[in-house]
Amino acid sequence: MLPHMAMDDTLWQDYEKQILDAGDIALLAEIEQKLFGRKSGALTLELKKLGEASSETRKSEGQALNTWKKKLDDAFVQRRQELTEKSAGSLAETDALDVTLELPKRERGHLHLIPEFIRNVEEVFGRMGFDVATGPEIETEDFNFNFLNIPDTHPARDSQDTFHIKMDAAPKNPGDRLVLRTQTSPGQIHYMQNHKPPFRVICPGKVYRKDTDATHSPMFHQFEGLMIGEDISLANMKAVMITAIRELISPTADFRFRTGFFPFVEPGLEVDMKWMGDEKESREGKWLEIVGCGMVHPNVLKTVGIDSTKYQGFAFGFGVERMIMLKHQIPDLRSFYEGDLRFLKQF
Ligand code: PHE
Repeated sequence: MLPHMAMDDTLWQDYEKQILDAGDIALLAEIEQKLFGRKSGALTLELKKLGEASSETRKSEGQALNTWKKKLDDAFVQRRQELTEKSAGSLAETDALDVTLELPKRERGHLHLIPEFIRNVEEVFGRMGFDVATGPEIETEDFNFNFLNIPDTHPARDSQDTFHIKMDAAPKNPGDRLVLRTQTSPGQIHYMQNHKPPFRVICPGKVYRKDTDATHSPMFHQFEGLMIGEDISLANMKAVMITAIRELISPTADFRFRTGFFPFVEPGLEVDMKWMGDEKESREGKWLEIVGCGMVHPNVLKTVGIDSTKYQGFAFGFGVERMIMLKHQIPDLRSFYEGDLRFLKQF
């Protein structure tokens, strides 16, 4: 018996199964090579052998082999089509463009609530005719205290409250010692040294004090205000304070004026505003002081060379964080500086 005679259908059946099970086109091409390869393809070889067989065998074997060849050819065509459709289908799935899909959210930053509030302050005061000026955060004791009629003995100069800047050598004049400004009031002096009345100006910025709890922070913001002219009265000051509070915090804000002492004003007033949130949350009770103000002291005007018999006016200093706390019912001032996005994103 010729070797090919030993071949039964199982070999070709096995190939057929391999073809129909092939997972991808590359594997299919490999099988095709094994079967139909010109030199060593299994079926090619079998067909070659037929040439040496007897005519009888050639006839019967030839028919059987040709039937298998056709079958296997068909199997290749079928599987190739299946695989092509499959990959086209998955391409359609993965590359599909669904125009109804929502785009991923894009994060956009916004101003922190403090600079945002200060912009609003500048706008509201701008409408009342106030200019905006800024001054340095490092000041001399003269500017931060002496020129503001704050004598050496005043408790505000207590080293408990003031951050002093280390200097290589003590200056000859003690007034030249450097401090981090404890208030924006030195802005008044800078402005008055460089401008002739009448004028209206605000001076927003950072101030520093050795203080920290729910309503105090070692760095916080104030904005100073100053209005000097020939006929400026306490009534004008009250009108400006009330307008600022209603516009910047709330039109229904509940507030009270009471006397207060600041060496650079006479008389001096303070304005407290009623906490509108949960009473328990305000650590200072129902009322929070938000601004100190008063008529500019003649000594201050004299220091900067303004004739106090001709000119007078008022000054004020608002606490920015406290205004924002009252506006949004934020119980703890320290939340402003913790950088917690869950807090910041609300504003
Ligand atoms: N500078 C004062 C403070 O920091 C506030 C103030 C400003 C008071 C202007 C009167 C006039 O408390």
